[in-house]
Amino acid sequence: MKTMVLSLGGSVLVPSLESNNISRYASVLREIARVCRIYVVIGGGGEARRYISTARSLGIDEARSDDLGIAVTRLNAALLAGALQEAAYPGIAATCSEAVRFGESEKIVVMGGVAPAQTTDAVSAVLAEYVHADVLVNATSVDGIYSADPKKDPNAVRYEALTPEELIAIIAGDRLNAGSNAVIDIVAAKVVQRSAIPLVVLDGRDPENLKSAILGGTYRGSVVHPEKQNPLPL
Ligand code: UTP
Repeated sequence: MKTMVLSLGGSVLVPSLESNNISRYASVLREIARVCRIYVVIGGGGEARRYISTARSLGIDEARSDDLGIAVTRLNAALLAGALQEAAYPGIAATCSEAVRFGESEKIVVMGGVAPAQTTDAVSAVLAEYVHADVLVNATSVDGIYSADPKKDPNAVRYEALTPEELIAIIAGDRLNAGSNAVIDIVAAKVVQRSAIPLVVLDGRDPENLKSAILGGTYRGSVVHPEKQNPLPL
């Protein structure tokens, strides 16, 4: 069976607690689990950002503010793991090596952040190395990788496929523009480069897009691979 690591943005899974995509994602992940092993790393979304900005306004240092962000990622992870019921391992992995151990159960493994000064994108890329994933999927709120932030630059060009080096060049350029938010963090991109892990960035606002990508169907996204080969569908 193939293995997927999924980086699922908090803003995609839980746009708000009142209106969330948790049960839709739980049913899509159950279907995908019939054909591949799944490890999911959940982000913190808007709730994490709110906690972090309140922490900063109280003079709390950056590392402790990150700890609050991590706590929110783990809360979101617990909501998804709970909704998956017996399809998921009954615990939220606190480290990548714990996720590997939980994976021996052959159930869906769910985790959040692990340590300050990074994001869950980086966690998911490192986890993809640990489990020798066939694909790393980043389900986010844009439909692929653009030359610039499409929410800010109307001339941004979307790529169907690019190499890890091309991705890193885009992220490096993006970081020069103050306030812009790269589609994937630089640590994750570097890990994808060093291990040549196929990365697919797709629009996760509709869980059906993930299902089509993995099981075969139409979807919009960008693939990152040294030979620009798309590993999907699995
Ligand atoms: P996210 O990975 O959710 O960051 O972690 P994000 O860029 O806001 O992603 P989306 O919006 O969910 O897609 C939220 C915050 O938690 C802390 C960081 O402060 C991060 O900004 N965090 C997360 C860590 O410090 N370490 C981790 O391993 C994960």
